Amino acid sequence: MTQRVALVTGAMGGLGTAICQAFAKDGYKVVAAYHPQFDNKDEWLKEMAAAGFKDFACVAGDVSNIDDCKKMVADAEAAAGPVDILVNNAGITRDRFFAKMDKDQWDAVISTNLTSLFNMTKQVAAKMAERGWGRVINIASVNGVKGQAGQTNYSAAKAGVIGFSKALAQEVATKGVTVNAIAPGYVATKMVMAIREDVLKGIIDSIPMKRLAKPEEIGALCSYLASEPAGYMTGATLNINGGLHFQ
Ligand code: CAA
Repeated sequence: MTQRVALVTGAMGGLGTAICQAFAKDGYKVVAAYHPQFDNKDEWLKEMAAAGFKDFACVAGDVSNIDDCKKMVADAEAAAGPVDILVNNAGITRDRFFAKMDKDQWDAVISTNLTSLFNMTKQVAAKMAERGWGRVINIASVNGVKGQAGQTNYSAAKAGVIGFSKALAQEVATKGVTVNAIAPGYVATKMVMAIREDVLKGIIDSIPMKRLAKPEEIGALCSYLASEPAGYMTGATLNINGGLHFQ
């Protein structure tokens, strides 16, 4: 069997890095998609090489911009071949109580966290279906499942990610393509560490396991969803949150 190709957006963040590494260990060709404004690409590649991951291809673009997404997928195909596994992982927060949230904060989160799924998946889903095999893995959030004060924008986008996954899963179910959402709880990444210290302490206290998730715990779940034995799982939302919320 030829080596599968995995494209991961937001690849150079905490979660994205763990997903890329999990896929590399599984033997896939990994294409790391990153935002062109991220200026630590070379440093990231050096860190990866030092950790034994020498073969990551990189493509740059803004997932909220459909033309960038067309180019990123074309670049990924040129570098590695047709995309078999897409992980829509790129995401941002603009936390603010709704009373104070402005339209820019709403739009930024909806376009980066939700419209991006249209933009990226559109470039690969039909081709996966034609080839009769594919995996789309969408990173949602516990806060898309339960809602979170201060995150009307993010909770709405992540709930949308779950709805998108369930709908597309049905459309491609007979084509060998699965579409699933992972809803992580609070993971030890820069995004979560940016939460005000007192607020974060309160969040950790409310998690039954009393700790944040390790990025590699989410990477392992992506690894499973991309695997052959996961072929019968589709339209699922997999909660991985230390007991913070049960659906
Ligand atoms: N529910 C209801 N009221 C709340 C509340 C809550 N959860 N949290 C705080 N409040 C109240 C406070 O008690 C306070 O009331 P008083 O003024 O009467 O004392 C008032 O709201 C203001 O609270 P803050 O001081 O926190 O307000 P702020 O403007 O400084 O900060 C905020 C607002 C930025 C939303 C901040 O509360 C925050 O960061 N909250 C955390 C949101 C969160 O969980 N984000 C997750 C980010 S990580 C992520 O998203 C990854 C993932 O997928 C999980």
